[in-house]
Amino acid sequence: MAEKLEDIAQAMVAPGKGILAADESSGTIKKRFDQIDTESTESNRRDYREMMFRADDAMRNYISGVILFDETLRQKAADGTPLVDVIKAAGAVPGIKVDKGAKPLALHSDEKVTEGLDGLRERLAEYHDLGARFAKWRAVIDITDTAPSAASIAANSHALARYAALCQEAGIVPIVEPEVLMDGPESRHDIDRCYDVTVATLTRVFADLHEARVALEGIVLKPNMVIAAKNCPTQASAAEVAEKTVRCLKTCVPAAVPGIAFLSGGQSDEQATENLSLMNAMGSLPWALTFSYGRALQQAALKAWGGKVENVAAAQRAFTHRARMNGLAAQGTWSGDQERQAA
Ligand code: 13P
Repeated sequence: MAEKLEDIAQAMVAPGKGILAADESSGTIKKRFDQIDTESTESNRRDYREMMFRADDAMRNYISGVILFDETLRQKAADGTPLVDVIKAAGAVPGIKVDKGAKPLALHSDEKVTEGLDGLRERLAEYHDLGARFAKWRAVIDITDTAPSAASIAANSHALARYAALCQEAGIVPIVEPEVLMDGPESRHDIDRCYDVTVATLTRVFADLHEARVALEGIVLKPNMVIAAKNCPTQASAAEVAEKTVRCLKTCVPAAVPGIAFLSGGQSDEQATENLSLMNAMGSLPWALTFSYGRALQQAALKAWGGKVENVAAAQRAFTHRARMNGLAAQGTWSGDQERQAA
C-alpha cells in the first residue's frame, strides 16, 4: 500500500474508481436499518458492511477506498479476519471518519459547526496504526433565507483546515468535505443560489488550507454538486448541474488537487451517476472527478439485503451494479442503456 500522501491521494482517485462512504455513525446506520426493519446490532452492522467489502468484482474494479466508522475499523469479519484486511486484500485503501459530528453554532440558530479537533492528533496516530491511510471530516453548510452566515462558513472552513493539517502531519490523506446541503429541512433554494454559496464556501476553504500549510497534492476534495434543493420547485437538468458544477470547481479548486470525489447528498442513485458522467464527458479537467457516495452506492444493496443472510449474493449484485455504473461515470462513459441492460 502506498505511504506517500500524493501516492495515496492518487490511488483514491484512480481512473474509473471511486470511494465507498460506509462511515455512517451509529445514529445514521440505525436510521438506514430501520428502513429495512433490521435491528442495528454490532453483528448486523458487521454483516452488512462485510457483505459489501467481500463483493470482489465491485471492490477490485470500481472501489479505490472505503471510509469507515471507528467501530468498523476495529471490527473483524465473521471468519475472524480484520475488515481492514478484507478491504486491503481487494486492493482498496481503508479510511476513517474522524469528525465528531455537526453541532449547533453558538448564537447562530439552525447553523452548525463540525467538532472533533480536541485529541485529534492522538486519534490520528492510532488510526494510522490500525491501517487507515486517509480520513474524512464533513462540514455542513445549510442554505435558508438567512443562512449561511459568514461566521458559519468561516468556522467550518477553519476546522477543516486544522483537521487537514493534522492528517498530513500523521501521514494520512484528508478528505476535505464542505457539504452545502441540498436536503436541509428548510432548503428551497435554486441551483444558482447553490452555485453562489458553494463558490463562497470553497473559496474560503482553499484560502484556509493554504494558510494552514496543507499540501494540496495530498488531499481529496469531497464537495456537493451544484444543484437545486430537493424541495425547490424548479429543478435543473443534468446538463445544467454538470455545467455549473464544473464551472464552480474550475473557479475555486486549484489544479494541484489530484481529485474531487463527490458526495451524493440525497440525489437518486441514477441522478448521482448521470451527473458525474456528464461532467467527465465534458473533458479536459485539471483534476480527476469521481464519486465518494454513501446513499447512492448503498441504497439498492441495503434493500436487497434486508438484514437476511440468504440475500447476501443478491445484495452484492446490487452493490456491484451501482459501483460499476459509477465507475463508468467516473470515465464519462455511463449511459441509460447500460444502466438498464445490466440491471
Ligand atoms: P452521501 O453520498 O449519502 O451524501 O454520503 C456521503 C458522505 O460521506 C457524507 O459525509
